Amino acid sequence: MLSSRARSVVGRVLPRIASASGPSARLASTASQVYQRDDPDDGNKIVVEMNGNDERSCTKTYLVADKYTKRAVIVDPVKEHINRYLGVLSYYGCTLDAAIDTHTHADHITCLRELKALTGSKSVMSQYTPNPYIDHYVHDGDVFRIGGVDITLMHTPGHTRDHLALYDGEHVMTGDVLLIGGTGRTDFAGGNASDSYRSITEKLFALPDETIVLPGHDYRGNTKSTIGEEKASNPRLAGKTEAEYVHIMDNLGLPLPEKIMEAIQVNAAAFDDDKGDLPLYSHLAAVRQVTPQQLFDATKGEGWTDRLAVLDVREPAELEGPLGALPGAVNIPVQSIVSRIAELDPFRCTPVVVVCRAGIRSTSAAAILTGLGFGNVKNLTGGMVAYREAGF
Ligand SMILES: [Fe+2]
Repeated sequence: MLSSRARSVVGRVLPRIASASGPSARLASTASQVYQRDDPDDGNKIVVEMNGNDERSCTKTYLVADKYTKRAVIVDPVKEHINRYLGVLSYYGCTLDAAIDTHTHADHITCLRELKALTGSKSVMSQYTPNPYIDHYVHDGDVFRIGGVDITLMHTPGHTRDHLALYDGEHVMTGDVLLIGGTGRTDFAGGNASDSYRSITEKLFALPDETIVLPGHDYRGNTKSTIGEEKASNPRLAGKTEAEYVHIMDNLGLPLPEKIMEAIQVNAAAFDDDKGDLPLYSHLAAVRQVTPQQLFDATKGEGWTDRLAVLDVREPAELEGPLGALPGAVNIPVQSIVSRIAELDPFRCTPVVVVCRAGIRSTSAAAILTGLGFGNVKNLTGGMVAYREAGF
């Protein structure tokens, strides 16, 4: 049970920072532009948006804490602001139980691993995330308990397949699936406009109308909304059918995020963020796909390894985990493909299917192999998560 595991986490309480010019002072100075709920006479929780004026990505990162036990979670932390988060934790005297990413971000680099290293927190993401370094892969409806505060994790695909919304009984942190007066784009990184519509209208709009909406981004200076307001006035959703919504989303014509290549591939733990030469988006988009059924059929019976190579690009420890490994697959982690390319030379003229946890790292690997002259490389769509879900 996730909640009991969460309770057992013992992170250290960070030393208080007394400087008036520190992060807490900056937090106070931007209080009119951030959501901040820490009224000492009202309720048992603290909920604070910590990025303030993040002018580049307009990303919002939330601290949610139990006011009495001082246990806390951070939602959607941005690597470049990590010192600020440590300062805010210190200001409130909180122990960080967990850091949660609502989804695999395309516009900034996460710091779940750095927070874990510095505070002992656990990292939490959806079971559909490609990220291999997560302590708790959660399912729809799981409850994360911090002190007396329960946070329900809602699988809300659409912006990405691995998207979660977090509901604490008063607020819903909607990540990028539902924004204030808008919705998150659905045209890359596993997005799907129909899924987005259903996640919003069937799950988020089923919450009480007074629920406070705290989005993952806002580009217009808003700090909060409510489910009732979004139902009534969100221009993409109010009065719109699913077909109308899909038509809107499929015709936005937005440019790709500035940091998409670095962010997606680093956040999927495929590469260190100081390495260059990541595959370009156009190369990733050109990777051909196979379904779990097609891979299962192609690897049935004797002798399939004479016709096909399956390359598993996960870390070796992941092959021992609950998703297991495909018999006959060659394992080379994605970071090592270039340095170990000689091991793959026998497969230059053989069809190759690349697999990983959720299909993101393997897409990078397939693009790299194609760029290195391998003629017939495909990706297992959805990775081993999808393969096991299909019953294989
Ligand atoms: Fe996003």
